[in-house]
Amino acid sequence: MTVRRTSIHGEWSSRWAFILAAAGSAIGLGNIWKFPYLAGEYGGGAFVLVYLLAVGIVGLPIMIAEILLGRRGRQSPINTMRTLAAEEGRSPHWQWLGWMGVLAGFLILSYYSVIGGWTFAYVVRMAGGLFAGATTGTVDAAFSALVSDPERLLAWHTLFMIMTMIVVARGVKSGLERAVRFMMPALFLILLLLVGYSMNTGYFTEGLRFLFAPDFARLTGAGVLAAMGQAFFSLSLGMGAIMVYGSYLPHTASIPRSAIQVAAADTTVALLAGVAIFPIIFANGLDPAQGAGLAFKSLPLAFGQMPGGSLFGALFFALLVFAAWTSAISLVEPAVAYLVENRGMNRVRACAWVGVTVWFLGLGTVFSFNLWSGATLFGLNFFEALDFLTSNVMLPLGGLLIAVFAAWRMSRKSTESELDAGPTGYRLWWVLVRYVTPVAVFIVLLHVTGLLGR
Ligand code: PFF
Repeated sequence: MTVRRTSIHGEWSSRWAFILAAAGSAIGLGNIWKFPYLAGEYGGGAFVLVYLLAVGIVGLPIMIAEILLGRRGRQSPINTMRTLAAEEGRSPHWQWLGWMGVLAGFLILSYYSVIGGWTFAYVVRMAGGLFAGATTGTVDAAFSALVSDPERLLAWHTLFMIMTMIVVARGVKSGLERAVRFMMPALFLILLLLVGYSMNTGYFTEGLRFLFAPDFARLTGAGVLAAMGQAFFSLSLGMGAIMVYGSYLPHTASIPRSAIQVAAADTTVALLAGVAIFPIIFANGLDPAQGAGLAFKSLPLAFGQMPGGSLFGALFFALLVFAAWTSAISLVEPAVAYLVENRGMNRVRACAWVGVTVWFLGLGTVFSFNLWSGATLFGLNFFEALDFLTSNVMLPLGGLLIAVFAAWRMSRKSTESELDAGPTGYRLWWVLVRYVTPVAVFIVLLHVTGLLGR
């Protein structure tokens, strides 16, 4: 049956406003910083193929489910789950899904902000001409100097958090739409410029082969888990970010079409980043599997060698800060919306609470690159453990539960009327989200428990 609730937080002005905000959430450090270094670490082509499959078979159906739940519930994910469970005669425990999302958002932002801080630092370094004529030695030294200095990292992390919380405090909708409308095309253009540069390195085909020719011998169980985790991370799924944005979506908008557009934009940016970065890696003899520093060591080399590079480089990293910012906002919006709904706080106070908590958690990541770099659990330092726990466990688990709730716990009448996708489209989504997606996520998640081989 059709249900028409309204959100106390307001609505997007149009479907496009939603697309821009959701794309702003999806496109961020995950595309440009994380996707390339994971692809490098897990051996390229086969990882990329699994990632693309995960986006299509797992990510897209779950994104549709998240938007659907959000629009029907019209509240923060915690209250949306509580309301919908009650409406469908299901257990109130489903609200825990919302709580897990809030926790995941806090944990992710705590390290996301530190990497956002690196990006900030690189704007200043680029603009100051530090990388003009850079060699592998210069970029290496510059990166090490940054991450080994806890005070500097802390200062940048603090600045990133303050900027994020100011925007969230003012309300997600004001300004976000306009900012994304300018920022996304600009980022896209500079990525194309970088791809153009990579074409002339002499290693372009080698880069393409690394990214797109699957070598299954190099794919491990851990790689498959990381590829699926990255699909969730990059599409902002499994923690309620897209759900809360969906709760502001007008009733007339098509959910499947919106989801496809957001996923396509997100995937294009990640692939472009990979296509830009790997030729630079090979041309300079860098190690594709070096980990989290990959983008920060390769891109400055390219900017350092092109005419006008300091300017373009500074602009690129500034746009990346922006992209990170629009993602960070969506990481805390579920928690802030909840505090406003249930604790009667205004947005400013809610943001202060959330901001201070996340800032504090971020200290763990700041120190894991220097003071605590030796402290490991199962071979992972604090940042790596947090990233593994959130991307590879919490987000897929959240996504799995969202799929189960939408397809097994909501009545067909409710989902069909909310989705409004025509009989074939609905059927396709329903089969995917009811059988294919949960089974795929479940099997891949088994790897975490050690039940599947390495
Ligand atoms: N999708 C963002 C990125 O790729 O940078 C990160 C992110 C945002 C993950 C929001 C999860 C989320 F809920």
